[in-house]
Amino acid sequence: MELIICKDYEELSQKASEIIISMLKENPKSILGLATGSTPEGMYANLVKANENNEISFKDVKTFNLDEYYGLDPENDQSYRYFMNDKLFNHVDINKEYTRVPSGTIENPEEYGKKYDEEIENAGGTDIQVLGIGANGHIGFNEPSDVFTPETHLVKLTEKTISDNSRFFENIDDVPKEAITMGMKSIMSAKKVLLIANGKNKADAIYKSLRGPIDPKVPASILQVHPDLVVILDEDAASLL
Ligand code: GLP
Repeated sequence: MELIICKDYEELSQKASEIIISMLKENPKSILGLATGSTPEGMYANLVKANENNEISFKDVKTFNLDEYYGLDPENDQSYRYFMNDKLFNHVDINKEYTRVPSGTIENPEEYGKKYDEEIENAGGTDIQVLGIGANGHIGFNEPSDVFTPETHLVKLTEKTISDNSRFFENIDDVPKEAITMGMKSIMSAKKVLLIANGKNKADAIYKSLRGPIDPKVPASILQVHPDLVVILDEDAASLL
């Protein structure tokens, strides 16, 4: 594991974007596993700038996102498809047909999950998977559980996640109670994993994930066995390490 501790969010976003930028320069056909949430927003803004400056192109890039709220359609401004269009895809030269975000409106999540995983596998797996982390240690929407679930699947969100994510919604009752998330198999098969976290409220999850036992009750702890894990934190998120 490579651990990079930054003085603030700006430096974290800078370092995270540098990794993607050098990857795209080396391989313009990279397959990116992408994440939503407030943590990667600064990184996406830097990627948009790098694209505007013609430093990188997304023309031949393919992307697979981690997760989507179940029940939200892509036009809903709280959906993760909307987030990705708004923060990245609408502002770069990517072919939207090459961008995948799990659908929140499918009827058969089990069948759909299999297809999503197959599609990732058929593309040769992702070159990098970007991850944020929930305050309870979740990655994607893989919530604390008794087992690590390998496949893309439907999950019930925990009270903690619903309350943490309610800041984006008008009312806590508007937060969907379920989500569809990439499972551990597709996440762990990424050639490189980039975990980013900032803020004191992530310090405990980061400590347990990186220093505690590998335990599905702390989903991100599985990353300890990934052969190429890069963790970028600000000082607050790293404060318990
Ligand atoms: C959400 C997403 C995760 C994200 C996490 C942290 O629930 N499903 O992919 O990493 O919350 O979000 P934030 O970066 O806003 O703290």
